[in-house]
Amino acid sequence: MDRRNFFRTSFLVGGLGVAGTVAFLESCKKNNTPPSPQGPTVNFTLDLTLPANASLNNPGGSLSSNGVVIANVGGSYIAVAQSCTHNGCSVGYNSGGNNFVCPCHSGVFDTNGNVVSGPPPAPLKKYSAVKNGNILTISG
Ligand code: FES
Repeated sequence: MDRRNFFRTSFLVGGLGVAGTVAFLESCKKNNTPPSPQGPTVNFTLDLTLPANASLNNPGGSLSSNGVVIANVGGSYIAVAQSCTHNGCSVGYNSGGNNFVCPCHSGVFDTNGNVVSGPPPAPLKKYSAVKNGNILTISG
């Protein structure tokens, strides 16, 4: 290979390398889109005077209904999807840490449903929880 062909070939290989690197970085950029929260669409009410729902009358209390975990956090209500976004185990409210914990692989979610730690790949869907008298409406 003469000197001229050497530089021509080097330029071509170098150009392909730059193009490949740019394409790789572009594909990485697309994969950085945060995953969407996951959970069913619901719209139901809970009568807080019923014994089955009594745990929601005390701060720190919680229960599960219709695929949603509802917790009383200092007198306000928080509701997130019950099914863990990792392998679908049922998460529960942890009043000590004020978070939602999955018992299967120790996934932890904050009160907005965002992943704090563990293997879950996406947040839990968060629902509206509105109290009107003794009726709590969960929707979203
Ligand atoms: S199923 Fe919840 S962390 Fe694995």
